[in-house]
Amino acid sequence: MLKTSDILDEKDKRLRAHNKDVVFPLSDERKKLINDMLEHLYYSQVEKYAKKYNLRPGMGLAAPQVGINENFFVICHEEEENKFKNYVLINPKMISNSEELIYASEGEGCLSVNRDVCGIVPRYARVTFVGYDVDGNLVKYRAREELSIAFQHEMDHLNGILFFDHIDPNDPFKNKDYMREI
Ligand code: NI
Repeated sequence: MLKTSDILDEKDKRLRAHNKDVVFPLSDERKKLINDMLEHLYYSQVEKYAKKYNLRPGMGLAAPQVGINENFFVICHEEEENKFKNYVLINPKMISNSEELIYASEGEGCLSVNRDVCGIVPRYARVTFVGYDVDGNLVKYRAREELSIAFQHEMDHLNGILFFDHIDPNDPFKNKDYMREI
């Protein structure tokens, strides 16, 4: 099982390093890591496990956050109460986005950022991503609202960007009126 201490802190340089495309087929070790990442996210969002293992809730993790500078991320999204859907995107690309912008009213969180950060992060309301699953099959996902934010947040990690990079410290709520709060 992935431990909280396996997730790198925001100051770690590997979060800012270049990430390489993944070459298929995946090794068994890589497949196991992906499962462990998804398991961690699931446990972190289910109260009894989160308490038991002392986990901070999170819905996404990108490879560099666990010290692997490769282009993939995973998301475990609670679609309905207690109903979770897993996403694995390897070598992902965002192929389209809405014009409409949104931001998370409670701010964004990140398992690598262990502090509250004030301010809004503009995100597209709807996005389409393509990438590969663990078996190398081409996959395409459309995401909206919270899930759209998660996809863009994780894609940023693959480009060495952390969510607070988008916040202007001198004006953390800049352009708020041009976006929809969710
Ligand atoms: Ni993050």
